[in-house]
Amino acid sequence: MHPLARRLAPLLADQAHSTRPNWPLFGRLFRPLSAIQALKNRFNVPSCPLEMADRVLVSPGLEPLEIIVTTSALHRLSNDAAASQPPVRFMEDRVDAYYRDRAINPETGSHPLKGRVPAEGDVLVTSNDYLSLARHPEIVEAQLQVLREMGHGEPRSGVFAFGDAPLRVLEKQIAAATQSEDALVAQSGWCANTGLLQSIADASTPIYIDMFAHMSLWEGVRSAGAVARPFRHNNPDALRKLAAKHGPGVVVVDSLYSTNGDLCPLEEMVDAATESGSVIIVDESHSLGVYGAHGEGMVAEQGLLDRVHFRTSSLSKAYASRGGVVLCSSRHAEYLRYQSLPAIFSSGMLPHEIAGLGATVKVIHREGFRREKVMRNARELRARLRGMGYDVGADDTQIIALVAGPEHLTIQLRDALESRGVFGSVFCDPATPRNRSLVRLTLNADMGREVVERIAEVCEEIRPELSLDQWPCARRTERLAA
Ligand SMILES: Cc1ncc(COP(=O)(O)O)c(C=O)c1O
Repeated sequence: MHPLARRLAPLLADQAHSTRPNWPLFGRLFRPLSAIQALKNRFNVPSCPLEMADRVLVSPGLEPLEIIVTTSALHRLSNDAAASQPPVRFMEDRVDAYYRDRAINPETGSHPLKGRVPAEGDVLVTSNDYLSLARHPEIVEAQLQVLREMGHGEPRSGVFAFGDAPLRVLEKQIAAATQSEDALVAQSGWCANTGLLQSIADASTPIYIDMFAHMSLWEGVRSAGAVARPFRHNNPDALRKLAAKHGPGVVVVDSLYSTNGDLCPLEEMVDAATESGSVIIVDESHSLGVYGAHGEGMVAEQGLLDRVHFRTSSLSKAYASRGGVVLCSSRHAEYLRYQSLPAIFSSGMLPHEIAGLGATVKVIHREGFRREKVMRNARELRARLRGMGYDVGADDTQIIALVAGPEHLTIQLRDALESRGVFGSVFCDPATPRNRSLVRLTLNADMGREVVERIAEVCEEIRPELSLDQWPCARRTERLAA
């Protein structure tokens, strides 16, 4: 008898109750040995947890052998691991809820973000490096040169950089490239947004925020201690109504929504903000670099520069680096530099990051063919998907969202794509409402026609496996037809 089978014998008695098609309902699926190791590492349990498996399935001949450790078993394991520490109930309740509802979700079998690991040759449609700059030789060389010369320099807060310090020079460069008077470079888009809102709003400021605005903007509202007044996604009239009730405040929108690829009706939003006497912030994380003749972004492209107080952006999307920026007047940039808490109390960018970004600004300005290519790829794929009956939204952007709705349908979609070597990004709660989860496909400039073709073919092939009639778009169509 296989030694493992001998150990499993008592558990196998229970096998009759284990129905294979139901396995995801029981929790996680592990392979033997690696499973034992994984559990040991994860929960820091010294003894072999095999005995704790609630269900064990063995195929004839014991290969492959699968062990299902159910939710309750994992709970027992995690409780054991924590046994040496005094339990703090309010915290453990939250942690338990994570394991119960997310990590080992009974409907999906595991955390929705954890699918297959991509293999060589698979197609990844997951990167925000829209212009394919992450390995650009000029940018890499600029970083290497500075790294060789000064390593990480003097790590400290950016608040100490002044005069012609490289950080300040970079800010002037980005400002010029985006037609802004000035700029404040932050360590991330998150820091740019939270620092900005915390600096300009307080408990008396209503913040009118699109319901789909990025989480960093919501976090900014929280750190300002301000009141969030969310309005219906992309609906300027809803914004008008709210502002009429609560008075002037701060209007917060994304130019291009990163989860579903929708464009903001910018001019109408700016009109509504102006009418109410509000400040307007436009997060251009997904449009800076990609839109505008030289990548200056959507606000500039639409001639709205004089009417938008602040543009913010992550520098980890088209800029393919690490960092964030607030584009605004010099007066406001100076104010933010010494008021934004992340700008003061969190260490600034490293010298090679600054040098790399300096080179990136030039490349983005110069290499317009990258913008054309990413948009061409996006148009082609979107048109193909639309032709197959997928609801891919009305806007031709480089972000294509397949909104399956409930998480188990998104997992079904993810698995269908991944089993054919196409990897998108799963977006679920808290990035989307729970019933609007999706797989996002992001297009890049260096993606060849054959790759776009392969993605389209896979999407065609998987259609019969998907419960498309249960996707929210299908239900919406039904409602409209009724
Ligand atoms: C719209 C938007 N704003 C802000 C951020 C935060 O940027 P970062 O990743 O640089 O912190 C992101 C990143 O996902 C984003 O999509």
